Amino acid sequence: MAKLPIRTYPDPVLAQKAASVTEITPEIAQLIKDMVQTMYESDGVGLAAPQVGHCLRLITIDETGPKERKNPIVLLNPEFSDCSGEKESEESCLSLPTFTCKVKRSEFVTVRGLNEKGQAVELKAEGLLAIILQHEADHLEGKTLINHASRLKRTMYASKVKKWQKD
Ligand code: NI
Repeated sequence: MAKLPIRTYPDPVLAQKAASVTEITPEIAQLIKDMVQTMYESDGVGLAAPQVGHCLRLITIDETGPKERKNPIVLLNPEFSDCSGEKESEESCLSLPTFTCKVKRSEFVTVRGLNEKGQAVELKAEGLLAIILQHEADHLEGKTLINHASRLKRTMYASKVKKWQKD
């Protein structure tokens, strides 16, 4: 297993719509393992394949976090249904260092997809897990927290990033 470099804003790969995974090839199996490792070593609770440069519909999540590592979830081609309730959450993202943003999310979600073995799975989630699922699914549509922020906040962050790149 290896820790992969994380792509950060404004890397164009983060703005692309990701493609479905059609088969668990040995390369995909390796990518899944590396993503779980990368998520934990980056102190994240979720990671989407575009964040490590692969435009694929693949996400890894562990809402118990890198210390506990109790509930690693791998989901390929996630599809949402039965979203209900509304919850505002304050979120951050490994691809947007120092950026935080309040986002309106569904409180309850049902997600169907494939697990790391290619088996069909259904997940009913609420609370933090539901929020992470929606955050990671955004990445698969080429959306990040930046897209949820006000124009002013976006502009301010973009100029901050430009300044970092100069330094
Ligand atoms: Ni993110």
